Amino acid sequence: MPVEILNQQAFPVPRAWLRKKLEEALVALGIPEKEATFILLDDEQITAYNTEYLGRPYPTNVISFSQREGPFAGIQPQVLGDVLLSIETARREAEEYGLPFRHYLLALALHGLLHLLGHEHERGRYAAWLMVRKELDLLTKLLGPRGRKTINFVRRREYMPAKLAVNVDHVATVREARKVDYPDPVHAAVLAELGGAHGIVVHLREDRRHIQDRDVRLLREVVQTKLILEMAATEEMIKIAKEIRPDQVTLVPERRQEITTEGGLKVRGRTAKVREVVEDLKEAGLKVSIFIDPDPAQLKAAAKTGADIVELHTGNYAEAKGAEERELELVRLEEAARVARDLGFEVHAGHGLHYGNISPVAAIPEIEEFSIGHAIVARAIMVGMKDAVREMLCLIERAR
Ligand code: PXP
Repeated sequence: MPVEILNQQAFPVPRAWLRKKLEEALVALGIPEKEATFILLDDEQITAYNTEYLGRPYPTNVISFSQREGPFAGIQPQVLGDVLLSIETARREAEEYGLPFRHYLLALALHGLLHLLGHEHERGRYAAWLMVRKELDLLTKLLGPRGRKTINFVRRREYMPAKLAVNVDHVATVREARKVDYPDPVHAAVLAELGGAHGIVVHLREDRRHIQDRDVRLLREVVQTKLILEMAATEEMIKIAKEIRPDQVTLVPERRQEITTEGGLKVRGRTAKVREVVEDLKEAGLKVSIFIDPDPAQLKAAAKTGADIVELHTGNYAEAKGAEERELELVRLEEAARVARDLGFEVHAGHGLHYGNISPVAAIPEIEEFSIGHAIVARAIMVGMKDAVREMLCLIERAR
């Protein structure tokens, strides 16, 4: 049997469920033939192991003893090793984090399993990030969207950098001011990626005031991170999205007269219509995000549309007058991020963010990605695109 669960403590545990989920995890990891033993202990028992083997005379939630290391490594290559779990600590922490005990237990067991496979978050930020990504991936596979909620305990505990998607619309704005062929948003995208951007965003507007169809086509070929197409939910744009196949579509409201996007998409009261568009795009294999105000009522409506991601509109925060109003908008964003995460969304944020206001928003742990355009393009005029992106990334990382 690939997964064995040995119970050595008194609290009832859903062992059959846990075994089934862990066996599914081995399949998802592509190693169904490997074997691992999970030993369920109380605090006193795990303290004894911590004291004897790790010099830590106190209880912890999980310890892994890998059979891939040490003098007996390789004798039974199919055996990964043992994962020791303190049920007492797991119960306490699950309550503290407000998570269902069985989900949290599974998250801990997966954490231990990944240690057996060589993951080590203490090796540094990147190693921690890789491990958290893997846990997130496995938990969403095994628990559905609820897994995303469970993973946040890890994120608070470990370093989890947020991503930065750079919007290059306003490079095209400068070009279109003279209707010439420079500066090219495609060049800017390459430099933004070299500066560390995790994605490139363009908004193809109905009036084509900045980004042109040619830009989107070329960017699809050139962008090596991910291409995010912002668009209104019109028939024309849906057709273009299906042809170009960006890595993500972000649905935004659009008015011809506006200088820039003025608010989030109103989903409440139009849920069926938005769902129809989301389903259409998802059926075409596209990942869908909805740009939305940080309002729990809108978020709950968005949860019925099937969208994968919500991008919280940070415009009111950015435009707040005075410290008090800004603080109020920040609290709205924090609450909305929590609600969105609990609804199972991947949470992004953007609009009006700049070098002076990014830090408090970047400190919100539920937000995984920021979409920033105007401020980066404006700074790039002064310091160059690569440095402008690097500086913004640095501020985001420092706030986590
Ligand atoms: N996110 C969305 C949905 C947007 O429409 C925009 C503006 O195009 C941005 C983020 C970026 O806003 P800014 O240019 O103010 O950084």
